[in-house]
Amino acid sequence: MPEIVRREEVASRTILLEIAAPEVARKAQAGQFVVVIPDERGERIPLTLADWDPEAGTITIVFLVVGTSTQKLAWLATGDSVAHLAGPLGRPTEVENFGTVAVVGGGVGLAAVFPIARALKDAGNRVITVMGARCRELIFWEDRLCRVSDELIITTDDGSYGRKGVVTQPLQELLQAGQRLDRVIAVGPTVMMRFVAKTTQPFGVKTIVSLNPLMLDATGMCGVCRVRVGELTKFACVDGPDFDAHKVDWELLKARQRSYCDEEKCSLERLEHLAPKNPGEGGHARA
Ligand SMILES: Cc1cc2nc3c(=O)[nH]c(=O)nc-3n(C[C@H](O)[C@H](O)[C@H](O)COP(=O)(O)OP(=O)(O)OC[C@H]3O[C@@H](n4cnc5c(N)ncnc54)[C@H](O)[C@@H]3O)c2cc1C
Ligand code: FES
Repeated sequence: MPEIVRREEVASRTILLEIAAPEVARKAQAGQFVVVIPDERGERIPLTLADWDPEAGTITIVFLVVGTSTQKLAWLATGDSVAHLAGPLGRPTEVENFGTVAVVGGGVGLAAVFPIARALKDAGNRVITVMGARCRELIFWEDRLCRVSDELIITTDDGSYGRKGVVTQPLQELLQAGQRLDRVIAVGPTVMMRFVAKTTQPFGVKTIVSLNPLMLDATGMCGVCRVRVGELTKFACVDGPDFDAHKVDWELLKARQRSYCDEEKCSLERLEHLAPKNPGEGGHARA
Protein backbone atom coordinates (compact mmCIF):
# COMPACT_ATOMS: atom_id res chain seq x y z
CA MET A 1 0.00 0.00 0.00
CA PRO A 2 1.38 3.46 -0.88
CA GLU A 3 3.08 4.97 2.16
CA ILE A 4 2.85 8.59 3.23
CA VAL A 5 6.42 9.89 3.53
CA ARG A 6 5.53 13.46 4.56
CA ARG A 7 2.50 15.21 5.96
CA GLU A 8 2.24 18.96 6.41
CA GLU A 9 -0.57 21.41 7.07
CA VAL A 10 0.30 24.08 4.49
CA ALA A 11 -2.65 26.36 5.27
CA SER A 12 -5.81 26.30 7.33
CA ARG A 13 -7.52 22.86 6.83
CA THR A 14 -5.23 22.37 3.83
CA ILE A 15 -3.09 19.23 4.02
CA LEU A 16 -0.08 18.22 1.93
CA LEU A 17 0.74 14.53 1.61
CA GLU A 18 3.85 13.25 -0.13
CA ILE A 19 3.22 9.61 -1.02
CA ALA A 20 5.52 6.89 -2.33
CA ALA A 21 4.18 6.09 -5.81
CA PRO A 22 7.18 5.54 -8.15
CA GLU A 23 5.16 4.53 -11.23
CA VAL A 24 2.93 7.60 -10.99
CA ALA A 25 5.90 9.91 -10.33
CA ARG A 26 7.65 8.56 -13.42
CA LYS A 27 4.73 9.31 -15.78
CA ALA A 28 3.13 12.41 -14.21
CA GLN A 29 2.49 15.53 -16.28
CA ALA A 30 1.10 18.93 -15.30
CA GLY A 31 -2.68 19.00 -15.06
CA GLN A 32 -3.14 15.30 -14.33
CA PHE A 33 -4.71 13.85 -11.20
CA VAL A 34 -4.72 10.72 -9.06
CA VAL A 35 -7.53 8.86 -7.33
CA VAL A 36 -6.85 8.06 -3.69
CA ILE A 37 -8.86 5.79 -1.38
CA PRO A 38 -7.96 6.62 2.24
CA ASP A 39 -8.88 3.26 3.83
CA GLU A 40 -10.36 -0.11 2.87
CA ARG A 41 -13.92 1.15 3.41
CA GLY A 42 -13.32 4.57 1.86
CA GLU A 43 -14.49 6.14 -1.38
CA ARG A 44 -12.41 7.39 -4.28
CA ILE A 45 -11.13 10.98 -4.07
CA PRO A 46 -9.78 12.65 -7.22
CA LEU A 47 -6.86 14.97 -6.36
CA THR A 48 -4.63 16.93 -8.71
CA LEU A 49 -0.91 16.17 -8.79
CA ALA A 50 0.66 19.19 -7.10
CA ASP A 51 4.21 17.90 -7.57
CA TRP A 52 6.22 14.73 -8.17
CA ASP A 53 9.81 13.53 -7.92
CA PRO A 54 10.67 10.66 -10.31
CA GLU A 55 14.01 10.07 -8.58
CA ALA A 56 12.59 9.81 -5.07
CA GLY A 57 9.54 8.00 -6.48
CA THR A 58 7.07 10.26 -4.69
CA ILE A 59 4.06 12.39 -5.59
CA THR A 60 2.55 15.34 -3.72
CA ILE A 61 -1.13 16.09 -3.26
CA VAL A 62 -2.61 19.07 -1.46
CA PHE A 63 -6.24 19.01 -0.43
CA LEU A 64 -8.80 20.97 1.50
CA VAL A 65 -10.73 19.08 4.18
CA VAL A 66 -14.35 19.45 3.04
CA GLY A 67 -16.11 16.17 3.82
CA THR A 68 -15.83 12.57 4.96
CA SER A 69 -13.16 11.26 2.63
CA THR A 70 -10.84 14.26 2.77
CA GLN A 71 -11.24 14.23 6.57
CA LYS A 72 -10.20 10.55 6.70
CA LEU A 73 -7.20 11.34 4.51
CA ALA A 74 -6.24 14.29 6.73
CA TRP A 75 -6.22 12.02 9.80
CA LEU A 76 -3.42 9.91 8.33
CA ALA A 77 0.18 10.58 9.39
CA THR A 78 3.69 10.12 8.05
CA GLY A 79 4.34 6.36 8.00
CA ASP A 80 0.66 5.46 7.43
CA SER A 81 -0.50 4.20 4.06
CA VAL A 82 -3.47 4.97 1.85
CA ALA A 83 -5.51 1.92 0.84
CA HIS A 84 -5.32 2.57 -2.92
CA LEU A 85 -3.85 5.09 -5.30
CA ALA A 86 -4.32 5.17 -9.09
CA GLY A 87 -2.87 7.49 -11.69
CA PRO A 88 -1.76 9.55 -13.38
CA LEU A 89 -5.26 10.14 -14.78
CA GLY A 90 -6.75 12.72 -17.13
CA ARG A 91 -5.22 14.54 -20.06
CA PRO A 92 -2.19 16.70 -19.26
CA THR A 93 -2.56 20.46 -19.62
CA GLU A 94 -1.59 21.61 -23.13
CA VAL A 95 1.86 23.17 -22.78
CA GLU A 96 3.64 25.02 -25.61
CA ASN A 97 5.48 28.27 -26.01
CA PHE A 98 2.32 30.39 -26.34
CA GLY A 99 4.07 33.69 -25.48
CA THR A 100 2.64 35.33 -22.38
CA VAL A 101 0.37 33.21 -20.20
CA ALA A 102 -1.60 34.22 -17.11
CA VAL A 103 -1.93 31.40 -14.62
CA VAL A 104 -4.69 31.99 -12.10
CA GLY A 105 -4.97 29.91 -8.92
CA GLY A 106 -7.54 30.21 -6.19
CA GLY A 107 -7.67 28.56 -2.75
CA VAL A 108 -6.46 24.97 -2.83
CA GLY A 109 -6.12 25.41 -6.61
CA LEU A 110 -2.80 27.15 -5.84
CA ALA A 111 -1.22 23.70 -5.52
CA ALA A 112 -2.65 22.54 -8.83
CA VAL A 113 -1.41 25.57 -10.79
CA PHE A 114 2.17 25.19 -9.56
CA PRO A 115 3.21 22.35 -11.94
CA ILE A 116 1.30 24.06 -14.78
CA ALA A 117 3.15 27.35 -14.24
CA ARG A 118 6.45 25.46 -14.00
CA ALA A 119 5.83 23.55 -17.24
CA LEU A 120 4.82 26.76 -19.05
CA LYS A 121 7.92 28.55 -17.78
CA ASP A 122 10.13 25.61 -18.85
CA ALA A 123 8.51 25.81 -22.31
CA GLY A 124 9.71 29.42 -22.65
CA ASN A 125 6.56 31.37 -21.80
CA ARG A 126 6.46 34.61 -19.86
CA VAL A 127 4.31 33.55 -16.89
CA ILE A 128 2.15 36.00 -14.96
CA THR A 129 0.69 34.26 -11.93
CA VAL A 130 -2.30 35.60 -10.05
CA MET A 131 -2.85 33.76 -6.76
CA GLY A 132 -5.77 34.41 -4.46
CA ALA A 133 -7.57 33.13 -1.39
CA ARG A 134 -10.20 34.29 1.08
CA CYS A 135 -7.61 35.36 3.66
CA ARG A 136 -3.90 35.20 4.55
CA GLU A 137 -4.26 31.85 6.41
CA LEU A 138 -5.27 30.17 3.14
CA ILE A 139 -2.32 31.42 1.07
CA PHE A 140 0.48 28.88 0.56
CA TRP A 141 3.30 28.09 -1.89
CA GLU A 142 3.99 31.76 -2.62
CA ASP A 143 7.73 30.89 -2.70
CA ARG A 144 7.23 28.04 -5.17
CA LEU A 145 4.97 30.05 -7.46
CA CYS A 146 7.35 32.99 -7.28
CA ARG A 147 10.21 30.79 -8.57
CA VAL A 148 8.29 29.80 -11.72
CA SER A 149 6.68 33.17 -12.48
CA ASP A 150 7.95 36.34 -14.17
CA GLU A 151 5.34 38.33 -12.30
CA LEU A 152 3.34 37.32 -9.22
CA ILE A 153 0.20 39.06 -8.01
CA ILE A 154 -1.48 38.06 -4.73
CA THR A 155 -5.04 38.89 -3.72
CA THR A 156 -7.09 38.13 -0.61
CA ASP A 157 -10.83 38.75 -0.36
CA ASP A 158 -10.45 40.45 3.04
CA GLY A 159 -7.22 42.32 2.26
CA SER A 160 -5.24 40.51 4.99
CA TYR A 161 -2.42 39.82 2.49
CA GLY A 162 -1.50 41.16 -0.94
CA ARG A 163 -4.13 43.23 -2.71
CA LYS A 164 -7.67 43.33 -1.34
CA GLY A 165 -10.07 41.77 -3.80
CA VAL A 166 -10.56 38.73 -5.99
CA VAL A 167 -8.25 37.29 -8.64
CA THR A 168 -10.32 38.55 -11.54
CA GLN A 169 -9.62 42.20 -10.64
CA PRO A 170 -5.88 42.24 -11.49
CA LEU A 171 -6.64 40.02 -14.48
CA GLN A 172 -9.19 42.54 -15.76
CA GLU A 173 -6.75 45.42 -15.14
CA LEU A 174 -3.98 43.68 -17.08
CA LEU A 175 -6.30 43.14 -20.04
CA GLN A 176 -7.70 46.67 -19.92
CA ALA A 177 -4.16 48.08 -19.79
CA GLY A 178 -3.48 46.33 -23.08
CA GLN A 179 -1.30 43.52 -21.69
CA ARG A 180 -1.16 40.87 -24.39
CA LEU A 181 -2.13 37.47 -22.97
CA ASP A 182 -1.83 34.54 -25.33
CA ARG A 183 -3.59 32.19 -22.92
CA VAL A 184 -5.15 32.14 -19.47
CA ILE A 185 -5.22 28.99 -17.36
CA ALA A 186 -7.31 28.95 -14.18
CA VAL A 187 -7.69 26.37 -11.42
CA GLY A 188 -9.76 26.98 -8.30
CA PRO A 189 -13.33 27.01 -7.03
CA THR A 190 -15.95 26.65 -9.77
CA VAL A 191 -17.29 30.16 -9.16
CA MET A 192 -13.77 31.61 -9.55
CA MET A 193 -13.15 29.78 -12.83
CA ARG A 194 -16.54 30.92 -14.12
CA PHE A 195 -15.69 34.56 -13.40
CA VAL A 196 -12.25 34.19 -14.98
CA ALA A 197 -14.07 32.99 -18.10
CA LYS A 198 -16.39 36.01 -17.95
CA THR A 199 -13.42 38.37 -17.55
CA THR A 200 -11.42 37.08 -20.52
CA GLN A 201 -14.29 36.45 -22.95
CA PRO A 202 -14.74 40.09 -24.11
CA PHE A 203 -10.99 40.23 -24.85
CA GLY A 204 -11.07 37.00 -26.86
CA VAL A 205 -8.27 35.38 -24.85
CA LYS A 206 -8.26 31.59 -25.01
CA THR A 207 -8.98 30.43 -21.47
CA ILE A 208 -8.57 26.93 -20.06
CA VAL A 209 -10.09 25.76 -16.77
CA SER A 210 -9.55 22.53 -14.84
CA LEU A 211 -13.05 21.32 -13.92
CA ASN A 212 -13.80 19.36 -10.77
CA PRO A 213 -17.18 17.67 -11.16
CA LEU A 214 -18.05 14.72 -8.93
CA MET A 215 -16.24 11.59 -10.10
CA LEU A 216 -16.86 7.94 -9.37
CA ASP A 217 -14.77 5.47 -11.38
CA ALA A 218 -12.53 8.08 -13.09
CA THR A 219 -12.15 5.74 -16.07
CA GLY A 220 -14.82 7.09 -18.42
CA MET A 221 -17.29 4.26 -17.67
CA CYS A 222 -19.83 5.60 -15.15
CA GLY A 223 -20.71 9.01 -16.60
CA VAL A 224 -20.85 10.73 -13.19
CA CYS A 225 -18.32 13.39 -14.21
CA ARG A 226 -20.17 14.45 -17.37
CA VAL A 227 -20.01 18.13 -18.26
CA ARG A 228 -21.47 20.10 -21.14
CA VAL A 229 -18.85 21.90 -23.25
CA GLY A 230 -20.30 23.74 -26.24
CA GLU A 231 -22.62 21.32 -28.02
CA LEU A 232 -20.90 18.27 -26.58
CA THR A 233 -21.19 16.12 -23.47
CA LYS A 234 -17.72 15.32 -22.16
CA PHE A 235 -16.41 13.14 -19.36
CA ALA A 236 -14.03 15.23 -17.25
CA CYS A 237 -12.01 12.20 -16.11
CA VAL A 238 -10.93 11.10 -19.58
CA ASP A 239 -11.66 14.08 -21.88
CA GLY A 240 -10.46 16.61 -19.27
CA PRO A 241 -10.17 17.88 -16.62
CA ASP A 242 -9.06 20.85 -18.79
CA PHE A 243 -11.70 22.48 -21.00
CA ASP A 244 -12.30 25.70 -22.93
CA ALA A 245 -13.74 28.01 -20.25
CA HIS A 246 -15.86 29.95 -22.74
CA LYS A 247 -17.76 26.83 -23.78
CA VAL A 248 -18.47 25.26 -20.35
CA ASP A 249 -22.11 25.07 -19.20
CA TRP A 250 -21.42 26.50 -15.72
CA GLU A 251 -25.03 26.32 -14.46
CA LEU A 252 -25.21 22.60 -15.18
CA LEU A 253 -21.83 21.98 -13.54
CA LYS A 254 -22.92 23.82 -10.38
CA ALA A 255 -26.20 21.90 -10.20
CA ARG A 256 -24.49 18.52 -10.66
CA GLN A 257 -21.86 19.31 -8.00
CA ARG A 258 -24.68 19.77 -5.48
CA SER A 259 -26.32 16.40 -6.25
CA TYR A 260 -25.36 14.68 -2.99
CA CYS A 261 -25.14 17.61 -0.56
CA ASP A 262 -27.59 16.10 1.99
CA GLU A 263 -25.92 12.66 1.93
CA GLU A 264 -22.45 14.26 2.24
CA LYS A 265 -23.60 16.24 5.31
CA CYS A 266 -25.04 13.10 7.02
CA SER A 267 -21.86 11.17 6.28
CA LEU A 268 -19.67 13.88 7.82
CA GLU A 269 -21.85 14.06 10.95
CA ARG A 270 -21.48 10.29 11.44
CA LEU A 271 -17.71 10.51 10.96
CA GLU A 272 -17.25 13.28 13.53
CA HIS A 273 -18.03 10.77 16.34
CA LEU A 274 -15.01 8.74 15.24
CA ALA A 275 -12.43 11.55 15.22
CA PRO A 276 -9.03 10.42 16.57
CA LYS A 277 -7.63 12.28 19.60
CA ASN A 278 -4.51 13.41 17.73
CA PRO A 279 -5.32 13.75 14.03
CA GLY A 280 -2.30 13.41 11.77
CA GLU A 281 -0.29 11.53 14.38
CA GLY A 282 -0.87 8.05 13.01
CA GLY A 283 -3.60 5.41 12.97
CA HIS A 284 -6.58 5.07 10.66
CA ALA A 285 -10.04 6.35 11.43
CA ARG A 286 -12.57 3.54 11.79
CA ALA A 287 -15.65 4.39 9.70
C1 LIG B 1 -10.04 16.13 -11.24
C2 LIG B 1 -10.23 16.66 -9.84
C3 LIG B 1 -9.14 17.13 -9.16
C4 LIG B 1 -9.29 17.62 -7.86
N1 LIG B 1 -8.20 18.09 -7.21
C5 LIG B 1 -8.32 18.54 -5.96
C6 LIG B 1 -7.16 18.99 -5.25
O1 LIG B 1 -6.03 18.96 -5.74
N2 LIG B 1 -7.34 19.41 -3.96
C7 LIG B 1 -8.59 19.44 -3.37
O2 LIG B 1 -8.69 19.87 -2.21
N3 LIG B 1 -9.69 19.02 -4.03
C8 LIG B 1 -9.58 18.55 -5.29
N4 LIG B 1 -10.69 18.09 -5.94
C9 LIG B 1 -11.98 18.06 -5.20
C10 LIG B 1 -11.97 16.83 -4.27
O3 LIG B 1 -11.98 15.66 -5.05
C11 LIG B 1 -13.24 16.86 -3.37
O4 LIG B 1 -13.09 17.94 -2.48
C12 LIG B 1 -13.34 15.58 -2.54
O5 LIG B 1 -13.66 14.49 -3.36
C13 LIG B 1 -14.44 15.76 -1.52
O6 LIG B 1 -14.62 14.52 -0.86
P1 LIG B 1 -15.20 14.48 0.60
O7 LIG B 1 -15.79 13.13 0.84
O8 LIG B 1 -14.18 14.95 1.60
O9 LIG B 1 -16.32 15.56 0.62
P2 LIG B 1 -17.85 15.35 0.25
O10 LIG B 1 -18.56 14.89 1.48
O11 LIG B 1 -17.96 14.53 -1.00
O12 LIG B 1 -18.22 16.84 -0.10
C14 LIG B 1 -18.13 17.89 0.86
C15 LIG B 1 -18.44 19.20 0.21
O13 LIG B 1 -17.53 19.49 -0.88
C16 LIG B 1 -18.24 19.62 -2.11
N5 LIG B 1 -17.53 18.87 -3.16
C17 LIG B 1 -17.33 17.54 -3.22
N6 LIG B 1 -16.66 17.21 -4.33
C18 LIG B 1 -16.44 18.35 -4.99
C19 LIG B 1 -15.82 18.67 -6.21
N7 LIG B 1 -15.31 17.74 -7.00
N8 LIG B 1 -15.78 19.97 -6.55
C20 LIG B 1 -16.34 20.93 -5.78
N9 LIG B 1 -16.93 20.68 -4.62
C21 LIG B 1 -17.01 19.42 -4.24
C22 LIG B 1 -19.58 18.98 -1.85
O14 LIG B 1 -20.59 19.53 -2.66
C23 LIG B 1 -19.83 19.26 -0.40
O15 LIG B 1 -20.33 20.55 -0.19
C24 LIG B 1 -10.58 17.62 -7.24
C25 LIG B 1 -11.69 17.13 -7.93
C26 LIG B 1 -11.51 16.66 -9.22
C27 LIG B 1 -12.70 16.12 -9.95
S1 FES C 1 -15.90 9.55 -13.29
FE1 FES C 1 -16.98 7.98 -14.29
S2 FES C 1 -16.95 8.59 -16.35
FE2 FES C 1 -15.72 10.06 -15.34
